[in-house]
Amino acid sequence: MSDLPPPYTALTRHPMLPRTSHDEAARFNFLTHLNRYLSGTLGPGNRLAYDTRVLPAFRAEHGRDPGHRYEIRDAMNQDPFHRMWSALKRNSMEMRQHNGRQTVLRQLDELDALARQFNEHSGQLELDPAVEQPDYQTAVDIHCQPGGYHSEERPGDVSAGANYDVGIFATTGGALGGLNDGGGQAVVAWAKRERPDWQPRRILDVGATVGHNAVPIALAYPDAEVIAIDTAGPSLRYGAARAAGLGAKNIRFVQANGEDLSRFPDNHFDWVQTTMFLHELSATSMPKLLVECHRVLKPGGLILHVEQPQYSDAMPLFEQFMRDWDAFNNNEPFWSAMHGQDLKDVMARAGFPRDSQFVVGVRAVVDRSIFPAAESEEQEDYGRAAVWNAYGAWKPAEAKGFGELAA
Ligand SMILES: C[S@@+](CC[C@H](N)C(=O)[O-])C[C@H]1O[C@@H](n2cnc3c(N)ncnc32)[C@H](O)[C@@H]1O
Repeated sequence: MSDLPPPYTALTRHPMLPRTSHDEAARFNFLTHLNRYLSGTLGPGNRLAYDTRVLPAFRAEHGRDPGHRYEIRDAMNQDPFHRMWSALKRNSMEMRQHNGRQTVLRQLDELDALARQFNEHSGQLELDPAVEQPDYQTAVDIHCQPGGYHSEERPGDVSAGANYDVGIFATTGGALGGLNDGGGQAVVAWAKRERPDWQPRRILDVGATVGHNAVPIALAYPDAEVIAIDTAGPSLRYGAARAAGLGAKNIRFVQANGEDLSRFPDNHFDWVQTTMFLHELSATSMPKLLVECHRVLKPGGLILHVEQPQYSDAMPLFEQFMRDWDAFNNNEPFWSAMHGQDLKDVMARAGFPRDSQFVVGVRAVVDRSIFPAAESEEQEDYGRAAVWNAYGAWKPAEAKGFGELAA
């Protein structure tokens, strides 16, 4: 089977998706291919550079092997192949943002008007201007996204959400499916396999952005009330309108900070979900947020975090270094520190005993007739697109409080 990514036209054209001209779609096609080429074909050149040049030089200088992924990074940053590969990859991220933003800005009037129309009619959007953006979100343009998820080109717009949606296909090498919802689909497939008769009544998705992975959960559990929270207004406006356009009526997009869920009582939700989220928090935010998630989750309920694999002693240092690329080259400041933590420990301190926790692998569920699987899992992994871990826990019926566990 071919390892070429699908064409940009394979995306499902839901009503809110910004329209792309021929040239804009061609640029996204180029960037999607470039992304896969950099991860799949050229990516292994980094290993070659390490084995043949960088490691022997490190050994000659230090009389030992590198003891940490940062030592490998410092050494690899001197290598001409790695520097070229890294510059290309960074440039592909900047080009993706540039193309997405151009595409959105030229039709922003139409997109804003359409979003307003959907949101006024559906009642699925609840904004709270008092919610402040966390400082770690405003400190950098996260993964080179101009203005992050929250900035507005003009008051009340959808520009950030629309840009996120229109270009994520290129960023992920087209690996997440027609609605970029392969992660959410995978979570649903897992939950239905694991608990076929489970009917969660209230589901909270924290850091939902435009709801790529919350909407498939809402559609799979139509009797549940799904609340998708985020701090970023423009992403929520777009997400609520996108969900309404997709016919998902049982999901509401609410502006709130996951560190303060005081609008919800204790033991309120049957399921608390985060998808590709924790790595974009901060060292102070993540533990606070997890304590809140624990508080609002019912005993017997499910918490599930879809994330890239945590680093551990079992993961070779070179792989840790490769996975760390985004932290230092793609404005992901918490990426390295977050993946370096023992997430089970962090979860335990938030109130989820270790023996209630589990880790399962999840792979994006996509239409394989349109989105062929990569020939090698490694290729997809380094593109960090389709292969994820779900770090979860079923909250014990007799759950201990945070204070008791910390004591
Ligand atoms: C990588 S995106 C998450 C992607 C999304 N979960 C999905 O499935 O497509 C991170 C999101 O988290 C939001 N965010 C960051 N800190 C937050 C917080 N403390 N509370 C709520 N949302 C937050 C950002 O605004 C951004 O939209």
